[in-house]
Amino acid sequence: MNSKVDFKMNHASKTLNDIQPRKLPDIKSNSEKIYWLENDPFKTHFMNALSITFPIGEKFFVQSVQPFFDKVEDAKLKDDIVKFIKQEANHRNAHKFFNHENIGNEKLWHRLRDGFQKKTNINQRLNSNLNLLAQTTALEHITAIFAHYLLTEPSWRDGTDDASKDVWIWHAIEEIEHKAVAFDTYTAMNGGYFRRVSLMLLVSLLFFIDVLWMTARLLFADGQLFKLKTIKSFWSFLFGRKGMIRQSFKHYLSYFKFRFHPWDIQDQYLIEQFDHFEKVSS
Ligand SMILES: [Fe+2]
Ligand SMILES: [Fe+2]
Repeated sequence: MNSKVDFKMNHASKTLNDIQPRKLPDIKSNSEKIYWLENDPFKTHFMNALSITFPIGEKFFVQSVQPFFDKVEDAKLKDDIVKFIKQEANHRNAHKFFNHENIGNEKLWHRLRDGFQKKTNINQRLNSNLNLLAQTTALEHITAIFAHYLLTEPSWRDGTDDASKDVWIWHAIEEIEHKAVAFDTYTAMNGGYFRRVSLMLLVSLLFFIDVLWMTARLLFADGQLFKLKTIKSFWSFLFGRKGMIRQSFKHYLSYFKFRFHPWDIQDQYLIEQFDHFEKVSS
């Protein structure tokens, strides 16, 4: 297997495998709205907050890539874009359903969702298509490293309630599979280094603040925000030795290399390891 992506082929798809949209997993109802991740309020609401952003984020990704479809010449990249759009549309539907079934306090999370939607609309109004594509490229890197973390961290997977587990694993596999599509499209449009990294700094900071704010609001509504257990969990889940940010930070920084490509991190073995989902026939 090639250990490095060929950077001379600048305007082509560098996705190493075929992208295969899979059927939505069976999302079971968590009717009692328990803390589905290790019975831990912080971890559960952090993931719920991420999930609140997904249906809006997935639509944003699709809308950012779509305007460039006709300008892409490479046939494989065109095919990757079509499959990327199918996968993100499925993720959108799955997380809409997941949120409805798993997050209590509907009034509050609908308000948080609507606030996030408004900010996304303003962003789309104010930015050029290439800036929006660069933002998507950045956010796709973040989702891919998060997916990598999720699939390689046994303590995360083993503690997940069965009713909620499959949708995250299914989503993680497909995020890894299509992680280079937005990036390759951006490269094919001659998107530059400075735009790519400066927008990464901006969106990663704003997205992190948004998700933490939503998490805090959900915890506050449950009377869990100012508990010692919550603060300890915040620290260990994000910054502890096995924490999400500590474990993923090296991957995050790789994006700032001048000759970075998402497949520099060769983690397609995770797709093979966890894929037990039925494919959608094309
Ligand atoms: Fe997705
Ligand atoms: Fe994605």
